[in-house]
Amino acid sequence: MAVPKLKRAERDKFILEAVILEAVKAPRGTRDVLGDETWKWAYVSEICRNVADDYGYREVHLPIFEHTELFARGVGDTTDIVEKEMYTFTDKGGRSITLRPELTASMVRSYIENEMNKGPQPAKLWGIGPMFRYERPQKGRYRQFVQMDMEALGAQDPLVDLEVIDFSMEIYRRLGLSNLQVVLNSVGCPKCRPVYRKALQEYLKSRYDDLCDTCKSRYDRNPLRILDCKSPICKEITENAPAVMEHLCPECAEHFDRLMRGLDKIGAKVVLDKRLVRGLDYYTKTAYEILSGDLGSQNAVCGGGRYDNLAEAIGGPHVPGVGFASGIERVILTMEAQGCSFGRKPENKVYVVAAEPSARLDAMALMRTLRMNRISADMDYMGRSMKSQMKNAASTALYACILGTSEIEKGVVTFKDLSAKTQEELTPEQIINKLK
Ligand code: HAM
Repeated sequence: MAVPKLKRAERDKFILEAVILEAVKAPRGTRDVLGDETWKWAYVSEICRNVADDYGYREVHLPIFEHTELFARGVGDTTDIVEKEMYTFTDKGGRSITLRPELTASMVRSYIENEMNKGPQPAKLWGIGPMFRYERPQKGRYRQFVQMDMEALGAQDPLVDLEVIDFSMEIYRRLGLSNLQVVLNSVGCPKCRPVYRKALQEYLKSRYDDLCDTCKSRYDRNPLRILDCKSPICKEITENAPAVMEHLCPECAEHFDRLMRGLDKIGAKVVLDKRLVRGLDYYTKTAYEILSGDLGSQNAVCGGGRYDNLAEAIGGPHVPGVGFASGIERVILTMEAQGCSFGRKPENKVYVVAAEPSARLDAMALMRTLRMNRISADMDYMGRSMKSQMKNAASTALYACILGTSEIEKGVVTFKDLSAKTQEELTPEQIINKLK
């Protein structure tokens, strides 16, 4: 904030006003999801939950912050996430803490800490919640965003990779999404990757000077990431670069082949993309993304893959794993762009109208009876006239229940169908039976 040259008192006032203005704005890259949107979120999480149940995955709730070391070691300290994007702070006990940028490392930490290796394998876990990355905000990219994440831990079998890819596709199928593309690659393992790394560096050597500055710095530390650089010049340089696929060891090649046969068996259409390396260091063998044709540049609704060495990287035993995460904001943006249904929008069924102020307590009692019978109901708390209560009823509910002195004396309610514009006198029991 640039502070203009002012007298001291004016200057203090200026700063105070600016601070107050900031305090009533959500931080950059975050957003409020309000009532006209939250029902869509509930619908999407419900579908995720249903699919997880059907595939045998159990929901877990893990901490929103973890020791920084977990992500530094797990996600990899040459990744953009660890180098530039983590929300890290020192807590009052002097520990370095990070708001989770993703869930996979936490899932693996939890598997080790809770000795899930002693239970049935693979351990099948899923979770949903906010993640935090200090990225440049744009459509579909936020600093706080929500991921649905699932992980299968403890199994090597490529059929589990198949289950993971199928699981993600099943969520989008149930949500009614179309125009999606599954892109797939194998990034090899610590046996074959060093050979590939060398071949790639060798290929890039003669064009090193033309690479963008970021890719120059990646050349020694993490040359595979040069393959998915978005700069046109780096894209052109890597156009005909050797592919990891051509350097896979027999074990990785066999794994990939069995996965491809499985995808073929279930009729899944995938596109092979030799440039797909993903932005997290832990991947081995399978890496995949699902891209939406209806989002702008932030078009990945889902990213995942296998990470057989992550558990060891964070100081645990060998635990092979595979999973994916999907950004809920991007899923909702795609659904909106494609006009998908979000189920029924919640609305009040009944608005209870007190014809006179003396009927308000009876109106309250009627409203409570309706609510106890699971019929959503509301009433006026602002002392409005009957006319404006009826106006509220018409804009917020399907039916109005009108109570005045004469209805109270007779033990009935004037029940009005606000769209058919019909009305009749009914007892509360009759109303309940009609609306249930
Ligand atoms: P990721 O590709 O970093 O992978 O993120 C997965 C998904 O989260 C993306 O495809 C996107 O939908 C969403 N996403 C990521 N960053 C943002 C953002 N800044 N704003 C909005 N949405 C975002 C992972 O996080 C891995 N942990 C996935 C995984 C699970 N791999 C194996 N298991």
